[in-house]
Amino acid sequence: MKKIIITIDGYSSCGKSTLAKQVAKELNYVFVDSGAMYRAITFYFIQNNLNWENIEDVAKALKNISLQFEYNYEKGTSDILINGENIEGKIRDMSVNDKVSEVAAIKEIREFAVAEQQKNSTDKGIVMDGRDIGTVVFPKAELKIFLTADPEERVERRYNQLIRFGKEVDREEIRKNLEKRDYIDTHRKVSPLRKADDAVILDNTDLTTKEQMDIVLGWANEKIK
Ligand code: DC
Repeated sequence: MKKIIITIDGYSSCGKSTLAKQVAKELNYVFVDSGAMYRAITFYFIQNNLNWENIEDVAKALKNISLQFEYNYEKGTSDILINGENIEGKIRDMSVNDKVSEVAAIKEIREFAVAEQQKNSTDKGIVMDGRDIGTVVFPKAELKIFLTADPEERVERRYNQLIRFGKEVDREEIRKNLEKRDYIDTHRKVSPLRKADDAVILDNTDLTTKEQMDIVLGWANEKIK
């Protein structure tokens, strides 16, 4: 059967990764969470006291970073590894949330991450979510989705996700963080978040995860057949 590339872009906390993971599982495709790559790089900078605004630190970090994903298809998980260490449990803390958009706005860091993401494209059969996947990473993808949701609903989802992870959080802090990240992600000079001209908009505010998955699978099957 024909295999395609599916891109899912959108604002923070719209449920992109949840959707991408489910669709990939249904189609037996590879799922790539590109945000996890920027998060892992941010974690590396923080952990090693490096400054992403200093070009020498950026060069040093990128020379030393090797990223991989470890998939467990039965559990439906994809963990990110940096230099062999699984750091999936560490990249969603507020310390990373707070800085990741600044780190992801640096040109050299984006070039590094995009090159890593494009390595996945050789075999097709990929679902990748992020901010610039349909516009920059895979501009020729067969199915591009721009996911949106009501801002208050996004705060609520993020809050519940962090509570599930056992983190202490405050809704106001989350709201401010999402607003700040959306602003930086849409206003940065290098590949800002925007809807690709040929992307379809999906607003999932009032959809269950199953409903949104069925819509996307319908679109995907149209392209595959
Ligand atoms: O999807 P996420 O919230 O895990 O992404 C974390 C940050 O990484 C987000 O604020 C913007 C950045 N990012 C990006 O600039 N480009 C991508 N393709 C994915 C994420």
